Amino acid sequence: MNLILMGLPGAGKGTQAEQIVENYDLPHISTGDMFRQAIKDQTELGKEAKSYMDAGNLVPDEVTIGIVRERLGKDDCIKGFLLDGFPRTVLQAEALETIMSESHRQIDAVLYIDVDQSKLMKRLTGRRVCPECGTTYHIEFNPPKRPGVCDKDGATLVQRPDDHEDTVQQRLQVNIQQQQPLLDFYSQKGYLKTLDGNQDIKDVFHSVAHILGELK
Ligand code: AP5
Ligand code: ZN
Repeated sequence: MNLILMGLPGAGKGTQAEQIVENYDLPHISTGDMFRQAIKDQTELGKEAKSYMDAGNLVPDEVTIGIVRERLGKDDCIKGFLLDGFPRTVLQAEALETIMSESHRQIDAVLYIDVDQSKLMKRLTGRRVCPECGTTYHIEFNPPKRPGVCDKDGATLVQRPDDHEDTVQQRLQVNIQQQQPLLDFYSQKGYLKTLDGNQDIKDVFHSVAHILGELK
């Protein structure tokens, strides 16, 4: 299955992706994670992406499309993939269509996690992540067993630099602007499946599993 996860910042893409890749054995391709790794490794890509991410803006399309094109060409994507956070602009979506047709593949579904905008600020400012294994928690909605400590490996949880309130405002504004044309694009193609992301994490995953069950 070739899947796309869409949703505003904080909608729960990363949280659902963790469960989807575990249950369906698909590579998880998150452009946000790829940029964060590049920043950690201090590569040229990381240096370029950092200024945009810190400001809550999108990394330019040509850079983002380039890394996705390369990633989708790897062998592990032959069996399918889960794209998380890409595409985010119509230009990126059109580029993805080209990449897919060049390699005789097609998108099976776009899972759009729809959440009331009023909930997103709290979800993002309360998010904590494990720097070792990448697991995502929330101080209130999905807390670790011991406050501030990863359940899986005991590492100290951290806050993403772009999860501070002022940057979150900008991220939400930028993404809200881009989202509707992208939803229209995928709706016209008949790929769009909308999920109620206001439910509990496990109930959102039940909805995901239901949709994926119908695709098979
Ligand atoms: P990226 O890392 O993709 O960030 P994002 O899109 O802003 O999404 P988030 O990771 O913040 O949210 P999420 O939907 O994954 O939510 P999560 O599951 O963690 O991108 C970062 C930056 O990289 C961008 O700003 C941009 O600069 C750049 N970038 C990336 N892709 C790009 C592209 N294609 N083009 C250009 N630039 C790009 O959940 C959030 C919190 O809520 C967690 O604490 C979680 O525990 C909690 N939660 C999750 N689900 C629920 C629920 N159902 N109920 C209650 N709480 C929940
Ligand atoms: Zn961990």
